[in-house]
Amino acid sequence: MSARLIDGKKIAEEIENELKAKVSKMDTPPKLSVIQVGDDPASTSYIKAKSSAAKRVGIELTHHHLSTDTTESGLSSLIGRLNSSVDGIIVQLPLPKRLESALNEIEPENDVDGFHPANLGRLVQGKSGMKPCTPAGIVELLYRSGNDPKGKNVVIVGRSTIVGKPLSLILSQKGVDATVTLCHSRTSNLQSFCKEADVLIVAVGSPDTVTAAMVKPGAIVVDVGVNPTDSGLVGDVSSDVKEIAGQLTPVPGGVGPMTVAMLMSNTVDSASKN
Ligand code: GUN
Repeated sequence: MSARLIDGKKIAEEIENELKAKVSKMDTPPKLSVIQVGDDPASTSYIKAKSSAAKRVGIELTHHHLSTDTTESGLSSLIGRLNSSVDGIIVQLPLPKRLESALNEIEPENDVDGFHPANLGRLVQGKSGMKPCTPAGIVELLYRSGNDPKGKNVVIVGRSTIVGKPLSLILSQKGVDATVTLCHSRTSNLQSFCKEADVLIVAVGSPDTVTAAMVKPGAIVVDVGVNPTDSGLVGDVSSDVKEIAGQLTPVPGGVGPMTVAMLMSNTVDSASKN
């Protein structure tokens, strides 16, 4: 039997409609600044999706497009100016390594990506704060599709700073109460861990990382991968997984729209505190 698809696009639309209603009651629209350095095509397409969502919700988005020869002090001074005039700032990644330290210039209250060490620290401590958008989007997707992770055996494949690691913290928090196993490229016998998962979340960035033989029949599989191939975008999970999983997030149309919706949500939250 084929897995039920979890429609991230539809759930993201629901969230956007809730946000639009909140924004319509505000005196001024929330302001989000997106900084892009260079012309990475994936970044350009993500920013396009963020701009469209902002328009739908009623957020005023400004795109600051800088050249690759931007200096660290140039980027820091732009962030410094934006800190006092907008509700949210993101710097689209990847960023040239020499510029990465400028990311910490974003005030934690404006850090709608949730990447600032202060926000990641609050997450470790179980305190409220801005949460990274993809992990927050995955958790929201689970709840809104009727899959409460409480008490579930959740296996995450991938230990990145923007997805796997923060997701493991959110899911294991008091109140969310999943039992989390975090696997990575050095995990020996990955299959034996994956096969135990009630919820299997794959965020590696490589096609066919998880195949049907690695999935427990009926499991919920969340595919975070976005890999361009000659035949279009594919996730990290191979196509045969839909024959064994109970539920599966499609690529595209699964986690991607949820990431964008959570960015909008963080921006509206930040604006409502300002
Ligand atoms: N590049 C890929 N994903 C993201 C994201 O969530 N935020 C930013 N700023 N850059 C990204």
